Amino acid sequence: MKAAFCMAMALLAAAAAAQAAANDPARAVIDEVEKACVERRIYMIGRKKAERLAELVRRAKPEVVVECGTAIGYSGLWIARELKNAGRGRLITIEISPERAKQAEANFRKAGLDKLVTVKVGDARQVVKELKGPIDFLFVDCGSSNYYPILISLERRLASGAVVVADNAGIGAAGMKDYLKHVRSKYNSRTEWFDVNLPWAKRDAMEVSEMRGVATE
Ligand SMILES: C[S@@+](CC[C@H](N)C(=O)[O-])C[C@H]1O[C@@H](n2cnc3c(N)ncnc32)[C@H](O)[C@@H]1O
Repeated sequence: MKAAFCMAMALLAAAAAAQAAANDPARAVIDEVEKACVERRIYMIGRKKAERLAELVRRAKPEVVVECGTAIGYSGLWIARELKNAGRGRLITIEISPERAKQAEANFRKAGLDKLVTVKVGDARQVVKELKGPIDFLFVDCGSSNYYPILISLERRLASGAVVVADNAGIGAAGMKDYLKHVRSKYNSRTEWFDVNLPWAKRDAMEVSEMRGVATE
């Protein structure tokens, strides 16, 4: 009797898991990519920061999101999944390594999110100059010294009230002093800390800035 009950519970749990996977096909790909990044030591934001990033996207309800630093698509998967759930918005993500960009594209496809995502290959400092505004959400994660030139290039194409998130504001703060000085003096900006528990960092921060009064092209 007890064995039959346990079996029934296990079947119910398996059915619930299968239903959850069917409702959210990106979830399994996110887990898989996270594992691959840790094993292959491909830097990515990690789950804690990704959950917060997804929450910020959910609240902002952006039409256009730009990400600089795709790697193999981990953070992009979290962003694109929110766009899909919201039923609006698209992601343009920029990666300098053609090989990584290719892997990211494959991951977006596997997660059923590829129609919402454009992967551009090149130096984000140059590629952002070609992008049209208004941009509602910007996520920078491509070498902290690149953040300031990227923001300056894009600033006039940010929508009023756009959200700009910069990764590594803890471990990379020294390399992004110019960026931090700019957003902290010009916009509503705060540093959010996370226990990330990644092989390469235990604690890090993201700088979350809300752009105010910025002219939109
Ligand atoms: C920390 S990883 C990005 C992780 C990714 N955002 C995630 O969380 O899954 C940084 C990526 O930026 C790329 N990168 C470095 N400099 C770049 C540049 N100037 N333009 C575009 N990508 C760049 C690197 O090749 C690397 O894949």
